[in-house]
Amino acid sequence: MTWVAVAPAASIAPGDYATVELACGFVAVFNVAGEFFAIDDVCTHDGGGLAGGALEDYQVICPRHGARFCLRTGQALTPPAYEPVRRYPTRIVDGVVEVQDEP
Ligand code: FES
Repeated sequence: MTWVAVAPAASIAPGDYATVELACGFVAVFNVAGEFFAIDDVCTHDGGGLAGGALEDYQVICPRHGARFCLRTGQALTPPAYEPVRRYPTRIVDGVVEVQDEP
């Protein structure tokens, strides 16, 4: 497994996000109150991007049809999505957010 740099932590404000392309596809990295969470940037309902979805507590709301996913576990919490999204470990090294390139 490899750690991949995403962006300086200071450039992703709380409530904001960044995306990065890994070998397995695009991943969205969200800042929730200073904690960073990385999940697939693909909704399991109909393939919509999750980056840019509204954040509520530790949930992201799919911009297309409103399914909610838990950022801590990847679980789909509300219809119309039922399958979880993959989560990726994150860390901050020298002020840069990194994600592991495998779930
Ligand atoms: S594509 Fe996400 S809820 Fe439909």
